[in-house]
Amino acid sequence: MYDFETLVDRRGTTSSKWHMIETDMGPGNEDVIALSVADMEFKPAPEIVEALVHAAQHDIFGYDYATDQYFDALVGWMRRRHALDIKPEWVTLSDGVMPAVNTALRAVTRPGDSVIVQSPSYPPFVAAARNNGLTLLDNTLKLEDGRYVMDYEDLEAKASDPRCTAIMLCNPHNPVGRVWSADELRRLADICIEHGVTILSDEIHADFEHPGHKVTMFSTLGERYAMHCMEFTAPTKTFNLAGLLCSNVIIPNPELKRAFDVAAENIAGLTVSHFGLVACQAAYNHAEPWLDELIGVLQGNLALLRDFAHATGTTLIEPEGTYLGWLDCRSLGFADADALCSFMRDKARVYLDEGQMFGTAGAGFERVNLACPKHLLERALGRMGDALAAR
Ligand SMILES: Cc1ncc(COP(=O)(O)O)c(C=O)c1O
Repeated sequence: MYDFETLVDRRGTTSSKWHMIETDMGPGNEDVIALSVADMEFKPAPEIVEALVHAAQHDIFGYDYATDQYFDALVGWMRRRHALDIKPEWVTLSDGVMPAVNTALRAVTRPGDSVIVQSPSYPPFVAAARNNGLTLLDNTLKLEDGRYVMDYEDLEAKASDPRCTAIMLCNPHNPVGRVWSADELRRLADICIEHGVTILSDEIHADFEHPGHKVTMFSTLGERYAMHCMEFTAPTKTFNLAGLLCSNVIIPNPELKRAFDVAAENIAGLTVSHFGLVACQAAYNHAEPWLDELIGVLQGNLALLRDFAHATGTTLIEPEGTYLGWLDCRSLGFADADALCSFMRDKARVYLDEGQMFGTAGAGFERVNLACPKHLLERALGRMGDALAAR
């Protein structure tokens, strides 16, 4: 049994999630609870901490490279958890998924090209397009019977634009929580491949799937598909190690891999930290039971959010993966998304990720981070429920 109950007070630490409350709301708001930024309020697995302490006491912190032991750990993880057989030569390491996605855009697009996202979309995707001089094409997801689906007709129209050279796919999808099925991914890929659109598949949330759902790593769709994709994975979301900066870029196509590596060299290389490597290797090798237990804890937290939605007349878009809940609050009748945001922060005293951050398709929604001790979530949802009842 691991400890998923202890709350570590991260106010006043280097935590950007908790610091954001002060930045946005000013001093005097220390009572506000953050259920925002996608890191967890759980201490990392003791097996990882042990490896870090050992490294701190015994290692020398010069320049690093990823050893065979690191690759063995990664290959083993992908095989066990995702039925994905990777070869170490397909992999480049990076200090984060987003630095790698930005680098990938440099590899497969030229300024003036277009790139597809599927909104509501993770805001750094939008920034990545802008920062690389690309036109953003929004293949907005459709909400049908409480479930988001892809709009393939619109995708076909956008992909057939000759300037469109890449898509940033979120698999599973943050914020809406969809675990795309193999059929959905294949249909998307067939369209993209036909039109020469390279698929950048961000799979940082792939280790979280709710019962009844199975994440499909993009390159397991088959060789034809693997040859047109780059996959971005990391154990940092899975094991709450985001501050240690380590991720994997998996590119089975040697030509695409070369293009990626050249783009990385052109920005003076991607790198990883010594502690990132140590922690991620330990996570892959020793912390799997921690993750399995955590997934059970997240089920309990999700049930709390489900009850909250039921009691308040809001609608929970059932997540199939990720540790995030996507709550449709449009029925509450706030004048606009800003009014909803002010209410949650000023009246309920809970700081959420506001839906409009993810584009206009997200307005009126709240993203709720479920990765916290149950008692903290209960307290936050209790405040939100009380504030709504008193409205
Ligand atoms: C879909 C997605 N991609 C990337 C990231 C960030 O990855 P990194 O910190 O490795 O850049 C996040 C973090 O929330 C995410 O949700």
